[in-house]
Amino acid sequence: MDLCTDVLSLLDRALVAEPPSIDRQGGIFAEGHLEELDALRTLSTTAKDVVLDLERRERERTGIGSLKVKFTKVFGYYIEITKSKLDAVPDEYVRKQTIANGERFITAELAELQDRILHADERCRALELAAFLDLRASIGEQAPRLHRLARVLGSIDVATALGEVAHARDYVRPEVDASLDLILRDSRHPTVECYAAKDGFVPNTIELDPEGTRFMLLTGPNMAGKSTAMRQAALAVIMAQAGGFVAAKAARIGVVDRVYTRVGASDQLARGQSTFMVEMTEASAILRGATERSFVILDEIGRGTSTYDGLAIAWAVAEHLHDAARCRTIFATHYHELCELADRLSNAANYNVAAKEHDDSMVLLHQLVPGGSNRSYGLAVARLAGVPPVVLARAKAKLRELETSAESVNVPQMPLFEPPSPPTTEVEATLRALDVERMTPVDALVTLARLRALARRDSE
Ligand SMILES: Nc1ncnc2c1ncn2[C@@H]1O[C@H](COP(=O)(O)OP(=O)(O)O)[C@@H](O)[C@H]1O
Ligand SMILES: [Mg+2]
Repeated sequence: MDLCTDVLSLLDRALVAEPPSIDRQGGIFAEGHLEELDALRTLSTTAKDVVLDLERRERERTGIGSLKVKFTKVFGYYIEITKSKLDAVPDEYVRKQTIANGERFITAELAELQDRILHADERCRALELAAFLDLRASIGEQAPRLHRLARVLGSIDVATALGEVAHARDYVRPEVDASLDLILRDSRHPTVECYAAKDGFVPNTIELDPEGTRFMLLTGPNMAGKSTAMRQAALAVIMAQAGGFVAAKAARIGVVDRVYTRVGASDQLARGQSTFMVEMTEASAILRGATERSFVILDEIGRGTSTYDGLAIAWAVAEHLHDAARCRTIFATHYHELCELADRLSNAANYNVAAKEHDDSMVLLHQLVPGGSNRSYGLAVARLAGVPPVVLARAKAKLRELETSAESVNVPQMPLFEPPSPPTTEVEATLRALDVERMTPVDALVTLARLRALARRDSE
């Protein structure tokens, strides 16, 4: 393997231990790399000594003991000779200025020295910049070798990181085969489990196979762990096919050609696309691209539009994935009506993430179990979120009211997609238009106040 040691030793020799980030400021190159730079640096740091040395030599040469080399900002460096010694001044001294008790001179050597001292810093910078550009260009020529090395180091890095987490977090080596199965025994979400309290993460088993259940319809209350479960399955597939171990007790994965996901509801609002548009664009890509070898996770599709639209689209998407694409799918939904699909489709089954309710509170078990869930536990979640008791009580009463009226309307069972009869009052119209799943507690309060005002007005 080419370790590019020549490049390393060049950089090692040329650069100071911690080069500055701005190349125009100098201080990049180490001592001993550029002779001229070293000389210039010595000059600017020892300028005083050099001047004193010149003064000493001139005194000796001229025999003028009082000869002084001085400096002012206006005149720069000069040699000052007192009146009494002017006779001894050598010919090559050039007079610059006459002062009360003597004269000031300059010599070629002093002028050059001055020039060197005053411009040493500037020259250092210019020299360093030029040398830096040179160095950069010559390292640039080695780019293909460096890229090769970087790729190898990258692979080693990934392999060791995967090895390390596999060991530290008790992952298992997956079997990847040519089947269309996806079997994950006691699998965990690799990052959510890190945030859960010790032993707090509930492992779940997910089993999909082409002959049995290849379409899993997942329901359950908010916060139960639907999104987590489906994402952990997708992550297991990706990690397994990347050559890693997976967070499970055992895993067998029929090789997947693509993992398709539609997750997260408000991720691209900032880019100016409506949630629903994003959802549909992604769903469309999935419906067009998914094959029998694909693995698809769809999280709450249809959420971004009105209930009937959303339900209708979710239904059709589910059917298409099951019947046409025939891919392995986990489909999480808040539309309990979709549970009916599992009975109609030969390779679909209902699962839910269990919760236990007692009184008005709810315990989330995070456990994936067969069967559909027919409730959303919305009120229990609202309570968990701290919605004020007075609002909860009113909502509970309202729910009972709605359920009773729904029951009376629903006898015999209302067909799924029959359009509802037009609302008779404004209160009803408002209530029907509510997207309770997406309301904040404050929205709920404000809406409640509005509904009450409407109801009072209507009863007057
Ligand atoms: N298997 C699990 N064990 C422990 N905690 C979990 C598990 N699954 C989910 N959670 C916790 O519940 C939270 C909500 O999970 P999420 O998957 O977003 O629920 P849902 O999609 O059903 O609303 C997660 O952020 C995590 O803290
Ligand atoms: Mg979710």
